[in-house]
Amino acid sequence: MKIVTIVGARPQIIKAAALSREIKNHFSSQIEEIIVHTGQHYDENMSEVFFRELQIPAPAVNLGVGSSDHGEQTAQMMSGIEKVLKQHLPDAIVVYGDTNSTLAGAVAAAKIHIPVIHIEAGLRSFNKRMPEEINRIVADHCSTLLFCPTKTAVKNLEAEGFSSGLMGPFSLDKPGVFHCGDIMFDNSNYFSAMAEQQSKILQLHQLVGNPFVLATIHRNDNTDKRERLETILEAIYRVSKKMEITVVLPLHPRTQKMMTEWNLEATLPEGADVRIVPPVSFLDMIMLEKNCSLVLTDSGGVQKEAFFFGKPSLILRPETEWVEILEMRAARLGGNSVEDIAGQAEALLNYPPTEFPPIFGDGHAAEFICETILKYNDR
Ligand code: UD1
Ligand code: UDP
Repeated sequence: MKIVTIVGARPQIIKAAALSREIKNHFSSQIEEIIVHTGQHYDENMSEVFFRELQIPAPAVNLGVGSSDHGEQTAQMMSGIEKVLKQHLPDAIVVYGDTNSTLAGAVAAAKIHIPVIHIEAGLRSFNKRMPEEINRIVADHCSTLLFCPTKTAVKNLEAEGFSSGLMGPFSLDKPGVFHCGDIMFDNSNYFSAMAEQQSKILQLHQLVGNPFVLATIHRNDNTDKRERLETILEAIYRVSKKMEITVVLPLHPRTQKMMTEWNLEATLPEGADVRIVPPVSFLDMIMLEKNCSLVLTDSGGVQKEAFFFGKPSLILRPETEWVEILEMRAARLGGNSVEDIAGQAEALLNYPPTEFPPIFGDGHAAEFICETILKYNDR
C-alpha cells in the first residue's frame, strides 16, 4: 500500500513521527510512505528540528508555500498537493489535525478520488470563528477513514451523520469511523525517556529544583488583537510576581511578530521572572512539561501533553475540543480579564488537581491505524 502523508505545521510534523516510526519498525514490507511538507512552517525551530530530533524520514517534496492569507496559502497547497498525488497515485492520503495543510490535503485528494485518512478526526470546538474548526469539519467530510482520539470525537461525528461500528469496505459515501486513542500520547510515552537523556533545557535555564510555569500562546484570537495579547501577558507577569515563580514562555513566531509590531516587550512590568525564549524542540518541550508546576496555554497539543504528564493547565481560550480534561477538573478555561486569568492560575498552583486517568488510549494508536488502513485498503 502506498500512502502520501501531508505535514506542514509543527504539531503535524510531531504527530507524523509516531506513524512513520510504526511503519518503519513494523509495517515497512506492507506500507510505503511518501511524506509531503507543504512548507506552512519553515523556520528551523518550527520544522527541521523535529525531523532531525524525532528521526522522521525527510519529506520527498517540500512545496515551500510559506506564510500568506488563508485563501492564498490553502490554494497554493492544494495546487502543489494535487500535482504530487497525480504523480505518485497513492492508495490513500494521510492528513493530521486541523490546519490549512490538513484542509488542502483532504480537499485536493477527495476531488481526485484518492481516499483520505484523517488522524485526529471528530474534534469540535463548536466555534466556527476558529479557522481550525472550518478545517476540521471539511477534512472530516472529505474522509474515508476517520481516526478519533476520544469517544467525544466519535460522538461529534455521529451527530453530523457519520456512523461508527460499520463494516467495510469503506468509501467517501460510507466512511469508517474508529476510536483509536491519541497518537500524541504514543509520542509522549516514546520520547519521554529520550528527553530525560538528551535535553539540557532545564540546566540551560537554571530550572532544576526551581518551580516554574510553562506558557505558550499562538491562537490568532489571542495574538491578533492587541488588547487580548496585552491582557494575557499582563496576567502571566502578575502570576510570576505574586507567586514568586519563574515563567518560561517559548514564543511562537506569530506571537513574536505581534509583540514586536506593538512593541509590547517594552511595556511589560518589572519585578517578574518571565523568560521569553524561541520555540523549543520536542524533547525540550517534554522536559518543560514534565517538570513544571502549571501550564498556561492556548495550544491543543500542549494542554493534552500537560495532562499526559500529570500537570494542571489553564487553557487561554473560551472553549476546548479536549473536553475530557475539563471534565476531569485537570484544567480550567481562562477568562477575559487579567484578574480572572491570574486568579485561576494562582488557584491551580495553590490547589493542584490530582486525577489524571489514562483516557487518551494505550499509547499504541499508530499501530491500530496501520493495521486498520491495511485491512480496509481495497484499491
Ligand atoms: C498554524 C495552524 C494552527 C496550529 C499552529 C501550530 C492554521 C490555520 N493554523 O497556526 O491551527 O495550531 O499552526 O503551531 O493552519 N511564522 C514564522 N515562521 C514559521 C511559521 C510561521 O515566522 O515557520 C509566522 C508568520 O508570520 C506567519 C504566522 O507565523 O504569518 C502564522 O503562521 P501560520 O502557519 O499561518 O499559522 P499559525 O499561527 O502558525
Ligand atoms: N511544541 C514544541 N516546542 C514549542 C512549543 C510546542 O515542540 O516551543 C510542541 C508541543 O509539545 C506539541 C506541539 O508542539 O507537541 C503543539 O503544537 P502547537 O502548540 O504549535 O499547535 P496546536 O497543538 O495548538 O495545534
